[in-house]
Amino acid sequence: MQNLYYDIDTKKIPSHIAIIMDGNGRWAKSRFMPRTFGHKAGVETIRKVVKEASRLGIKYITLYAFSTENWKRPKEEVNTLMGLLVSYLKKELQELDENNVRIRTIGDIDGLPKVCIDELDESKEKTKNNDGLVLSLALNYGGRADIVDAVKNISNQVKDGNIEVEDIDEILISKTLSTKDIVDPDLVIRTSGEQRLSNFLLWEVAYSEFYYTDVHWPDFDEKELQKAIFDYQQRDRRFGGVK
Ligand code: FPP
Repeated sequence: MQNLYYDIDTKKIPSHIAIIMDGNGRWAKSRFMPRTFGHKAGVETIRKVVKEASRLGIKYITLYAFSTENWKRPKEEVNTLMGLLVSYLKKELQELDENNVRIRTIGDIDGLPKVCIDELDESKEKTKNNDGLVLSLALNYGGRADIVDAVKNISNQVKDGNIEVEDIDEILISKTLSTKDIVDPDLVIRTSGEQRLSNFLLWEVAYSEFYYTDVHWPDFDEKELQKAIFDYQQRDRRFGGVK
C-alpha cells in the first residue's frame, strides 16, 4: 500500500476504531483564537481521517462528536458545533457517498435541532446501501443513557411477555444498544492528553485497546492515525485468556 509512514501490517487493520476528538479549544487558545476556530479546524481533521480510514480498509469509525454533557457549553459554541455538523454533511455527502461510506448515528438524534435531524436523515438515506466504511457519528450520545434505554426496552419486552428474564444475556443487551449493528471497537483513540472515557461506548469497550496522544484533534492527521494503528498492532490482545 502507498503512503505508509509506519510499518503497518495491512492484513491486521483493526475493524472498528472509535475516536474521542479532544483538544479543539486548547488548539485554538494556543493560537489566540476563539474555540470555534478550533472546531472548524477539527472538521478538516474529520475529513482527512475518514478518507484515510476508508483507504486503509477500516470497516467502522465512530466519532464522539457531541455528548449529552456538551449541552452545558456556551450557547454560541453549541450552535457552532451544530452548524458545523450541517455544513460538513452538506459539503461532504457527495464524496462520502462516492467513496462508498455509509453514515449512521448513535445517540438521541431527536434532541438535536431540526436542521441537523433533516441533514442526518438525508445523509443516512443517501448512503444506506453503501458497503464500505461505516461512519457512526455519536451525537447527543452518552454511554450510560444508551444503557438506560436498553434496560427500559428489555424491561418492556419482559413486561409484554415477549421474553423471559432468563433470556437476558450479554448478546441481548449488545443487540439492544444503539451500536447493535456494529462490532465492538478494537481501538479507542483519545487526542489531546486526557486519559478518560467521558461516557463513551461504556459497554462496547470491554476489551478495546486504548491509545492516548498529546496531539490536539486539529493536528491529528493521516500519519497520526497510522501511528495509532501501528501502536495497536504491537499489542497482545488476550481477551482475558492466556496465550
Ligand atoms: C473536543 O474539543 C471536540 C468536541 C467536543 C466536538 C467535536 C466536533 C467537531 C470537530 C465538529 C462537529 C462535528 C462533526 C461530525 C462535523 P474541546 O472543545 O473539548 O477541546 P478542549 O478540551 O481543548 O476545550
